[in-house]
Amino acid sequence: MNVWKIVGGVFGGALILAIGLLIGHFGISKTSEAPSWVKDLSKDVDEAFIQEFMKEVSSDNIREHLRKLSMSPHMATTKGDEDLVKMILNQWKDPKFGLDDAKEERYDVYLSFPKADQPNNVRVVTSGGEQKFKSRLTEESLTADQSDPDVVKPYAAYAPSGVPKGKLVYANQGKMSDFETLNKTIDLRGTIAIVRYGGAGRSAKAINAAKFGVIGLIVYTDPKDINDGYASKSQTYPNSWYMPPSGVERGSYVEDFGDLLTPYYPAKNFSYRINENDIKGRPPIPTQPIGFEDAEELICQLNGPEADNSWQGGLSCKYNIGPGFRPDGKFNDSSDVQVNVYNYAEVKSSANVMGIIRGSVEPDRYIMYGNHRDSWVHGAIDPSSGTAVMLEITRVLGTKVKAGKWRPRRTIIFGSWGAEEFGLIGSTEFSEDYYSKLRDRTAVYINVDISVFANATLRAQGTPPVQNVIFTAAKQVKTPVSASLSVYDNWIRYFNRTSTIYNGLIPQLGTLGAGSDYAPFLHYLGISCMDLAYTYDRSKTSARIYPAYHTAFDTFDYTDKHIDPGFTSHQAVARTAGNVLLRLADSLILPLGPRDYLETLENYYKTAETQFSAQLTNRGISLVPLKNAIARYQKFSDELDKTISELKDAKETPLRVRMINDQLMLLERAFINHFAFPDKLYYSHVIWASRSSSIVTFPGIADAYAMAISTGLQKDWDQVHHHITVAATAVDNAASTLETAASV
Ligand SMILES: *[C@@H]1O[C@H](CO)[C@@H](O)[C@H](O)[C@H]1NC(C)=O
Ligand SMILES: *[C@@H]1O[C@H](CO)[C@@H](O)[C@H](O)[C@H]1NC(C)=O
Ligand SMILES: *[C@@H]1O[C@H](CO)[C@@H](O)[C@H](O)[C@H]1NC(C)=O
Ligand SMILES: *[C@@H]1O[C@H](CO)[C@@H](O)[C@H](O)[C@H]1NC(C)=O
Ligand SMILES: *[C@@H]1O[C@H](CO)[C@@H](O)[C@H](O)[C@H]1NC(C)=O
Ligand SMILES: [Zn+2]
Repeated sequence: MNVWKIVGGVFGGALILAIGLLIGHFGISKTSEAPSWVKDLSKDVDEAFIQEFMKEVSSDNIREHLRKLSMSPHMATTKGDEDLVKMILNQWKDPKFGLDDAKEERYDVYLSFPKADQPNNVRVVTSGGEQKFKSRLTEESLTADQSDPDVVKPYAAYAPSGVPKGKLVYANQGKMSDFETLNKTIDLRGTIAIVRYGGAGRSAKAINAAKFGVIGLIVYTDPKDINDGYASKSQTYPNSWYMPPSGVERGSYVEDFGDLLTPYYPAKNFSYRINENDIKGRPPIPTQPIGFEDAEELICQLNGPEADNSWQGGLSCKYNIGPGFRPDGKFNDSSDVQVNVYNYAEVKSSANVMGIIRGSVEPDRYIMYGNHRDSWVHGAIDPSSGTAVMLEITRVLGTKVKAGKWRPRRTIIFGSWGAEEFGLIGSTEFSEDYYSKLRDRTAVYINVDISVFANATLRAQGTPPVQNVIFTAAKQVKTPVSASLSVYDNWIRYFNRTSTIYNGLIPQLGTLGAGSDYAPFLHYLGISCMDLAYTYDRSKTSARIYPAYHTAFDTFDYTDKHIDPGFTSHQAVARTAGNVLLRLADSLILPLGPRDYLETLENYYKTAETQFSAQLTNRGISLVPLKNAIARYQKFSDELDKTISELKDAKETPLRVRMINDQLMLLERAFINHFAFPDKLYYSHVIWASRSSSIVTFPGIADAYAMAISTGLQKDWDQVHHHITVAATAVDNAASTLETAASV
């Protein structure tokens, strides 16, 4: 196809002049062969190549990758983790199926571990000092995996050490409201609280408890929340996917993400580090997670009034709130509970493994794809199901690159992040280390962490501009169950909404919080992000997350037998994510939809207007600037959309294409304001920053409004005005990014 004729034919004078200049410069005429770079510059996505890629993604290979990745425990910086660093580097440097280049990059990061020779535990001791109960030190060995000496004993990372002792109380989920309820009738000072997972973040439970004078915290997983109520050995793994009675969810008990000692800077050996005592968001009191088998021993002996119905769980008794034990039970009522925590902190070297496929046309534009590598124990599902998918995608693409059959238009950067489980550390340090380069050149970050929670349907989260490329890909992938059912058509059955922009029903894209490594890319750098996985049929289970999450039962055997026998759901995710990746890397025009933000902005605005306008009007604060900014966003996103759809029918001059692509790439960046939330560390995205208020609108406005209503202070109403300005300015800036570039 002759690029020149189409360009000349469709577009008018100015472009013909530009072409004339090019022709003049290179001394070629319209009739002679254009130099090869001309054709290269118009390189677009190759549908046949995408089909070939999808065909070659093998479920057997993914299974084999996963088997190797989850053979040994690989908690961050341990030998198991370092072995996987080598394994991934080896694959990415393989001369036959590797990438162009790969390397490890290390940061010295602040981690927290339990003492191997002094295991954490929870005890019941009588006033006379007699021990009546001691929690398990390890999970029960049900398959060979749990007896691996490298299985880390259950602990709450970053909880302080200490051995507090007091009367036990049951505090539901450890929310502020839960403790407030208890505090009405019980003096919580000097007590030990036991709470179930869910409802509030891990560290929030401990922070809340300490506010009421609680001195030690026990956290457990209730069978009602994780196992659809099933609790017996015969009903749980290895007989089903449910959590065995001895299973314990480990986890990081810290609120913020990134290395805790080096906020905003990479944790290099020369970096300035804050004082350990100045770290915020950590549990102030010793905290220990236990299994429901042990929790039952404690909770079912509690004295005091029966807990509210909504506080009852799946253990075989009525839950009382305490304080202390029943006099007629197993423990006598003089008994205390002691939480023994011996955690320690250490700065250790953690590696990211980075791999690259260089782009042929726009090597300075990056599409990134990543997942963490570190687990708590064997981590077959979290995170190895995602890493197995990434390794299969890189194997297929690497093979094509090495054979000279394909090279992307844009550069693809793969990341195997370290120390995610401790708080998204590897990806955050990387974002800080390469802040400018990533901000200036990265179009999209794709995250595939846990790739298969369950086998029912695709679940996608992302910012609005990425939804359409996910739709396109999902329509081309078949579900594991039927060759006539696409992933898209199956997805829409589970998650859907009506869209005015799409004129009908579309799959519901979820929003991104800060649950995995996309967080620094989205919240700090302002890069359009997505997170893809296969997930549950919610009519079949209400499990809070897959039941073996962060336990010693998250193993290859568990995955192979109970999560995805045949690995076909893994394959569907690999095909979908790879399809999305290829479209982003190879399309002439980036497949991002700026108009898709409009629905979010309009919904946010409507909610703010409905919920806040009465009070705002009373205070003389106006939402009109925000409304005007959104109208301006609509105008310019419509215009750009029109420009792009006209462009799709023709080949454009490379500079115009580049100009439009830069507008698309930089759109998300316009919502970043590092001064908007000075107390929220990395949260700088005016649309997606964390929000305490339950009202779904601009987070800064929602939280400022809630504060002003609760205090009634003028200075707090001023903050509402401030955050309306912040939001309006961000939306206005985004509109300007989309506006024709040559405008004032
Ligand atoms: C509870 O145990 C202590 C120590 O074993 C004992 O002295 C006390 O009498 C017991 N109290 C009751 C009510 O059984
Ligand atoms: C708990 O209750 C006591 C007694 O009513 C009260 O003084 C205290 O402020 C309450 N604690 C919190 C954190 O609300
Ligand atoms: C810091 O790290 C660099 C790069 O790894 C290394 O070359 C240097 O020797 C280290 N310096 C110190 C003081 O450890
Ligand atoms: C998912 O897995 C379960 C258990 O292995 C099986 O019964 C079910 O048919 C599978 N569903 C799909 C959609 O593949
Ligand atoms: C849309 O989703 C709901 C569940 O959220 C489902 O019941 C309904 O059937 C779906 N609609 C379609 C057309 O699939
Ligand atoms: Zn994970």
